[in-house]
Amino acid sequence: MKFSPTLLACAAAAAALLVAQPAASAGAKPDSLLSPEEAVGRNLFFDKSLSEPAGQSCGSCHEASATFQDPRSTPTSHGVNPKLFGPRNTPSLKYAAFAPRFQSSLAEGSYFGGLFRDGRVDTLEQQAKQPFVNPLEMANPDSDSVVSKVAHGEYADQFKAVFGDDIFQHPNKAFNAIAGAIASFERTRLFSPFDSKYDAWQQGKATLTDSEQRGMDAFNDPARGNCASCHLTASPTHGGGLHPMMTDFGYDNAGVPRNPANRYYKMAPQYNPDGRAYTDLGLENHVLDPHSRGQFKAPSLRNVAVTGPYMHNGYFQTLRAVVDFYNTRDAKPACANMFTSEADAEAQGCWPAPEQPETMNVRDMGNLHLSDQDVDDIVAFMGTFTDGWTPEAEAKAAAAAKAAAPAKR
Ligand code: HEC
Ligand code: HEC
Repeated sequence: MKFSPTLLACAAAAAALLVAQPAASAGAKPDSLLSPEEAVGRNLFFDKSLSEPAGQSCGSCHEASATFQDPRSTPTSHGVNPKLFGPRNTPSLKYAAFAPRFQSSLAEGSYFGGLFRDGRVDTLEQQAKQPFVNPLEMANPDSDSVVSKVAHGEYADQFKAVFGDDIFQHPNKAFNAIAGAIASFERTRLFSPFDSKYDAWQQGKATLTDSEQRGMDAFNDPARGNCASCHLTASPTHGGGLHPMMTDFGYDNAGVPRNPANRYYKMAPQYNPDGRAYTDLGLENHVLDPHSRGQFKAPSLRNVAVTGPYMHNGYFQTLRAVVDFYNTRDAKPACANMFTSEADAEAQGCWPAPEQPETMNVRDMGNLHLSDQDVDDIVAFMGTFTDGWTPEAEAKAAAAAKAAAPAKR
């Protein structure tokens, strides 16, 4: 956010929230009541026969039991060929349906919205076509072969019942239908339940702990964490159906270092011609503007406590390290080796050079003067963004922690 971060963040926020509303009502359906199209979409999403060779589905990298991200954390996901790795950390698909279309905001050179970490597609429909034919992912040679697999698969009749008996005679239409059904499934409530402690708190149905409350104050305070300037926690109508997304869908270069564990560095030249010199250009790849180098979409922080590793390349293992980085990135000395892991950097009291130094945001982050307590509190606050919260589960966890505490002394 180059010119006027505050103004742009607000514009982005307002637009994102406006876009979010229709999607919210579209997703408000109980899971057991999937429409016929959503049910086909679910079958497609989890169908491991739709890769080349068979063995990988969307759900292999976006695991339903792991917040629709990849729990293997290696730190990027392998394709159907287990030796091939993409460059980027797999994001959770929860709440992905709420990303507005990619657009440039008020001032030239500032962007927001879109899907993928660089916003290169606008809709879930467009997105769903890509993994099928990505050689590092599901690796089909073309869209026709995906259609042919569905046409000869177990639920071909169910597919025809939704899209017409002659659908498979029109491979382009059929591929659009495949993408459309998957997108419909991704818009169901299964992906966007809005049942975190934070949601309950906003509706007056939960009480934050002291630490969570202090963390929220620091998170929201522009003079302290300043996190909410990009990871929006407020919505104009509290409890009125417009939920904050914990992102403004804007793009920034947070100065994340190279991840020495990123296996993409070792991919053959046909996939990664730059070898170890590879750096992720982020948004620049999409908009071809060098000012956007190394900028990535600010992710929603919903469920962030359970979706590590973090950032576009999975550099950080823990939320505490992320907050420590925001806090001390520009205060600690640079590590001697730019390929230094998070654990080694913490041990050496340094941070490695940013992957893309020229465009790093030094205005909104990097030297926040937060205390250790502030950092712990912000981490505790982000724990309230996890879906599936109930008062009973929290009481149980608190009792277990209390029981365990004296034993530790
Ligand atoms: C090999 C692992 C892998 C497979 C298989 C895979 N994805 Fe992904 N997915 C990723 C990665 C990595 C990204 C981020 C890529 C990027 O930003 O360039 C991503 C991004 C996405 C996004 C964008 C999320 C956002 O918030 O911007 C959506 C939606 C998505 N995938 C859906 C799907 C669907 C649908 C399928 C099946 C057709 C699928 N994925 C298959 C790894 C995978
Ligand atoms: C100027 C905008 C901006 C501010 C301010 C900001 N962030 Fe971020 N945040 C981002 C962007 C952009 C990314 C993704 C960067 C990347 O992948 O390289 C990100 C990523 C994250 C992630 C990783 C999420 C994931 O799923 O990988 C966490 C956690 C996070 N931010 C927390 C915070 C906290 C806590 C603060 C305040 C101390 C904060 N952010 C302040 C823009 C911002």
